[in-house]
Amino acid sequence: MANLASGIYAAGLAVLATLAGSPVGFAQEANYDEAKVPKFRLPDLLKTESGEQVTTPEQWVGQRRAEVLGLFEEHVFGKLPEGDFQLRTRVRSDVRDAIGGLAHRREVTVFLTADDDGPKLELLIYTPVGGTGKVPAFLGLNFNGNQAIEADPRLHLTESWVRNNRELGIENNRASEATRGSEASRWAVEKIVKAGYGLVTLYYGDIDPDFDDGFKNGIHAFLRKSAGPRTGNEGGSISAWAWGLSRVLDVLQTDSEIDASRVAVFGHSRLGKTSLWAGAMDERFAMVIANNSGCGGAALSKRAFGETVGRINRVFPHWFCVNHSKYNENEQALPLDHHMLVALAAPRPVYVTSAVEDEWADPRGEFLGLYYAGPVYTLFGREPLPSDVMPELNQPVMTDMAYHIRTGKHDVTDYDWEQFLKFADKHLR
Ligand code: GCU
Repeated sequence: MANLASGIYAAGLAVLATLAGSPVGFAQEANYDEAKVPKFRLPDLLKTESGEQVTTPEQWVGQRRAEVLGLFEEHVFGKLPEGDFQLRTRVRSDVRDAIGGLAHRREVTVFLTADDDGPKLELLIYTPVGGTGKVPAFLGLNFNGNQAIEADPRLHLTESWVRNNRELGIENNRASEATRGSEASRWAVEKIVKAGYGLVTLYYGDIDPDFDDGFKNGIHAFLRKSAGPRTGNEGGSISAWAWGLSRVLDVLQTDSEIDASRVAVFGHSRLGKTSLWAGAMDERFAMVIANNSGCGGAALSKRAFGETVGRINRVFPHWFCVNHSKYNENEQALPLDHHMLVALAAPRPVYVTSAVEDEWADPRGEFLGLYYAGPVYTLFGREPLPSDVMPELNQPVMTDMAYHIRTGKHDVTDYDWEQFLKFADKHLR
């Protein structure tokens, strides 16, 4: 549902506004003027740390890829311990009449330890009814709990921490009945199953509640060896959410209806930053889709347009590693930029989107982040974007890389899903 979704986005902006002194102060401080974008130089994606030029896929796979991944672990998202987990699943519900009878819908609890009271993830899985054989699928985190995907009273109401949202009757960090179906407009389940795909989603707060608690809760409590404050390159919430997506992919390996070798990892906004990072760390994901991912996602940090590194780190100190804040108001010192994050998806198909009213996320920066990842695709004999000129509004470009900028605001719409499905038809069929 657009309201709640934009509510979250607006909440982020409201905090920003408070920090900046006033909403007006905030608006004045963010740069929205192309003429004021600082001069910047992107690090060379295809030059190794020892100065060698990468000219073969083998050099990328054998050396440069690991260097680039290491840069994001060290300076942006941080690293989490592998974790000593034992995945077990238990079916919570299984119905064949979901989405007007089009979908087989399962709710599956994934326990991470042998203890039922230990950490767990609640999956919501849709597959087309009457399908033959395993289907490719989209996997993405949701913002409000699985009950927000569809207004069906049978869906389990999340028991995890949720953000207060008076509009939806959430006063005390417990999900309310009013949240049922509240995110439905962002998940085109009917289109997805009709097109012959599965959809797997789970609440991101199951993995790590999205607030700065000094990393005492969520998966951090389970993975971290020390309880003290995080330092240096210790992973933040985005790394935790990405870790959770990989655990879901582990579980899907044995699913009878989903083909785990054809799973596209998808995310919107902070969760689009997360899908890029999940796809970078886990090459089992067959496709990566980052919707309106902005700063910390596909957008180039050095462009300093809209949201900046300093702002994102101050407002969301738990998302990135501590080292990332060394680059607050100092983006030019970053030894990387986000075209290199997109390049970590190569040679797998990658889709980046923008929305024209989402200037905060820097549409042009998102496009360029994708465009400048192109040389790695070329290295693999894949087709990069044809040009560094942004396509017109609502005119997607799709090669082995895809981009569109659509009408409207920061959101996920049916239009976005229609394009993801076209792209998936091209590459996951
Ligand atoms: C805030 C934040 C963005 C983020 C967005 C979201 O607006 O500044 O970086 O993408 O929230 O996740 O909704």
